[in-house]
Parts: sequence; structure tokens; C-alpha cells
Amino acid sequence: MDGNGRWAQHQGRPRHFGHIKGARTAKKIITAASDMGIENLTMYAFSTENWLRPVQEVSLLMRLLAKYLQRETKNLIKKNIRFTIIGDLDRLPHDLKIAANQAIWATQACSGMNLIFALSYGSRQEIAETAKALAYKVKNGDLDPDQIDESLFSTHLSTYPAPDVDLIIRTSGEKRISNFLLWQSSYSEFYFSDTLWPDFSKQELTAIINDFSARDRRFGKVKPHHEQLTR
Ligand code: IPE
Ligand code: MG
Repeated sequence: MDGNGRWAQHQGRPRHFGHIKGARTAKKIITAASDMGIENLTMYAFSTENWLRPVQEVSLLMRLLAKYLQRETKNLIKKNIRFTIIGDLDRLPHDLKIAANQAIWATQACSGMNLIFALSYGSRQEIAETAKALAYKVKNGDLDPDQIDESLFSTHLSTYPAPDVDLIIRTSGEKRISNFLLWQSSYSEFYFSDTLWPDFSKQELTAIINDFSARDRRFGKVKPHHEQLTR
């Protein structure tokens, strides 16, 4: 979700105005994704690197997130959406931690879409943490190094048991991954939209999903011969 600051700037307003509008867009898109039957939606709300922004902007974002989580938990339950978080939660302010844990707890029995908020999240940090957790298991005699393979590694990532990512959408015309789900996106499709996040819409999401559905995903393989003939 990128482009809140530029959106506000275009209207001659302070950056926080863009974050407020961006939060409303996030709410709309969560509902739309759930209505479309999407099983897992991960929203990159705040990266490890975002901590380096001016303290006023960080604190506004944290307050906004806490407010939305408190206010929207009942709607998540209504929509049968299960909420979870990935990232370094220890760094979050107390009231946001409480609001997040409350939303996680209140929606844990929901069986519809999984909504994962990446908050204070960095993919390299996650991979390093995973390596560390496995190293401790080996040290404690609970794991043989020969047992470590891709599938075991995946089960120790914070996104487990969510599957690998099918599609990553980045808004605002930036074309980079910025430390997001590096392991989990090995075979993801990418879609880069020029729309600034506050202007992102259900219509655009639908169009992007249609584009994605028409893509030919081979996962490094070639298509079986009969399929090549029929396409
Ligand atoms: C939102 O957009 C992303 C967040 C970290 C909340 P930005 O705040 O990065 O907006 P731009 O890139 O400055 O336009
Ligand atoms: Mg940005």
C-alpha cells in the first residue's frame, strides 16, 4: 500500500491526511477481497524500515492502526475474517499491541478470509529469525541439520501455515519489493499499479485479479504437450 504521502501532497495537504484516507481504502479493499472469495490477504502496513520516518508520522500511523483495529474488530467477525499479524510486535506501542491481540483473539475462530497485517515487518529479519530458531533446535538436540530443507524452513516462518504468495500488488508506480515476503514470493506474480493507494478501488482490484487469472504460471517447468496444443 504505497503512495499515501504523495496523494496528500497532490491535494496540498499534510502527509497524515493521506494516511487517514489510505486507512479507509484499506478497509474497503479488505471487504472487497473477502467478498471476492480471496483466501489469504496480506497487507504491508508498516515495515521495519518505516521506523526511520519522523516520529510524528510514526506515532500517527500507530494511533490510526490501533483505532481501526478497535473499531473494525466487530466487522471482521461479521465478515468471518480471521486476523493475524506478522512482524516484530515487541516494537509496537502498548495500545496497538493490546488492540492487535484483541482482534487476533476475537477472530481466531473465523473461517473465512485470513487477513494478515505485516506490521513492523521485514522479510530479511524474518528469515534471519527463522535461521536462529532452527539453530537453537539443533543446539538443543531437537533437530538434525540434515532435516532442514525448504519445507521445514517454511514451517518456521511467521506466515506459516499460509501458502506461498500468488500475487503481489504494489501501488503508486514504485517497482520494487522493499523487504516484503522474500521467501514466500519466489514464484509470485507481480502487478505494479500507478494508482496512489488512497485512490485504489475494488474495480481496480477486480481488473488486476482478472489479469492475474489469465497469466500462464509454469513455476519454472514447461507445460505438458497436450496443453500446449490446446492453447
Ligand atoms: C503509505 O504510503 C505506506 C506506509 C508506510 C503507511 P507512503 O507513506 O509510503 O506514501 P509516499 O510513498 O510517501 O507517497
Ligand atoms: Mg512510500
